[in-house]
Amino acid sequence: MRIAVIGTGYVGLVSGACFSEFGVEVCCVDKDAGKIERLRRGEIPIYEPGLDDLVAKNTRAGRLSFTTDLAEAVRGVDAVFIAVGTPTRRGDGHADLSYVYAAAEEVALALDPARYTVIVTKSTVPVGTGREVARIVRKARPELDFDVCSNPEFLREGSAIEDFMRPDRVVIGTDSDRARAVMRGLYRPLFLIETPMVMTSLETSELTKYAANTFLAAKITFINEIADLCERVGADVHDVAKGIGLDGRIGKKFLHPGPGYGGSCFPKDTLALVKTAQDFGAPLRIIEAVVDVNDRRKKAMAERVVAACGGSVAGKRVGVLGVTFKPNTDDMRDAPALDIVPALQAAGATVSAYDPAGMHEAERLLPGVEWAKDAYAALEGADCALVLTEWNEFRALDLRRVAKLLRAPVLVDLRNVYDPEAAEMAGLEYSCVGRCS
Ligand code: UGA
Repeated sequence: MRIAVIGTGYVGLVSGACFSEFGVEVCCVDKDAGKIERLRRGEIPIYEPGLDDLVAKNTRAGRLSFTTDLAEAVRGVDAVFIAVGTPTRRGDGHADLSYVYAAAEEVALALDPARYTVIVTKSTVPVGTGREVARIVRKARPELDFDVCSNPEFLREGSAIEDFMRPDRVVIGTDSDRARAVMRGLYRPLFLIETPMVMTSLETSELTKYAANTFLAAKITFINEIADLCERVGADVHDVAKGIGLDGRIGKKFLHPGPGYGGSCFPKDTLALVKTAQDFGAPLRIIEAVVDVNDRRKKAMAERVVAACGGSVAGKRVGVLGVTFKPNTDDMRDAPALDIVPALQAAGATVSAYDPAGMHEAERLLPGVEWAKDAYAALEGADCALVLTEWNEFRALDLRRVAKLLRAPVLVDLRNVYDPEAAEMAGLEYSCVGRCS
């Protein structure tokens, strides 16, 4: 089988590489000629464990190619996956669909009318987008033989390949049996591992993606608020999470408290679903509250640091460990660090920081930060150490050495990486989330 993938962002590149690993012939398209050139040389624009090897292997095998020429890429394919960005539209919080619709039109103009093609929306798109894509394509080329299908992606940055290869489920939304058969063919290897396939309508599939992300965002926000309450009443949030998570109806995952969710998906998707629900006269009050609570949380985190530093950070140095929105990525989008670091600087602190993968991107977004060559260097002479991302290498830090390097032995751990007892034994004044009095 052959497919084209439009957009070599996170979802497009990972999906393209993984489909080629399934044995599908894949051509990835992007308007950015420099990016395509780099991809052809095997240079991966994002940090994702295992992706470089997968791309190299399948490019060598001739199953994966890259081009800027959309018309050439879609020639003779069974399906075209649209995986372009859907950022938050300035001003109103809705998803900006202009890239999706422009891609749909371009695809329409390039397709061969003699060949049946499935046009698949892989990007996260609001309910109604698939129908609009079909309308645009039909208007541009009434003679085309095509169907539209929604096939949202549920992969997480940092474990994207595993998530694609061994998903909990695949959701396929279309009204057409013919399109369903093509999609089944593409995902054939997943049938071998008995992956559940949820076959549904376009609208249901589109909404399922948003419902999944907003539910997970709500789960995190719930445990974050429970963590705050734990601190007030002297309870331990990890035990609460375990105690509720072992109930199969609740589940153990996504109950880790922290500085608030970030990233390229949850903030954007919660906001977009709130807007859609308002537009359709069925407001999602729970998700409205989730958005509000999470925004406030990220902003309030700097106050914890100020409190741990004795009420002021003016003239003090804060050593930050990790700035990306989560580990195993270089992605800075909506990272809590983008709220917390500027707030500390505004309160008069000097910030030094280290991140294993995100510093290149962060340099631009966090002006005035002194970037260090490793974790220990970031903490040297600081009045407070602050953990913002739970990279594995931070778990293994020698806390006695940390205590010696710091000018004042204050450790604020917003990801609960350390054992409070061990931190205190090392001579640190340790504060974390939801388990300290
Ligand atoms: C998220 C979803 O998990 C994926 O299923 C989905 O496909 C993806 O969005 C998307 O729509 O493309 P991702 O943004 O890569 O994936 O990251 P997550 O691992 O979900 O983490 C999101 C944020 O929640 C991070 O800031 C993380 O630190 C935070 N988080 C996560 C917590 O604070 N606690 C948790 O228990 C879990």
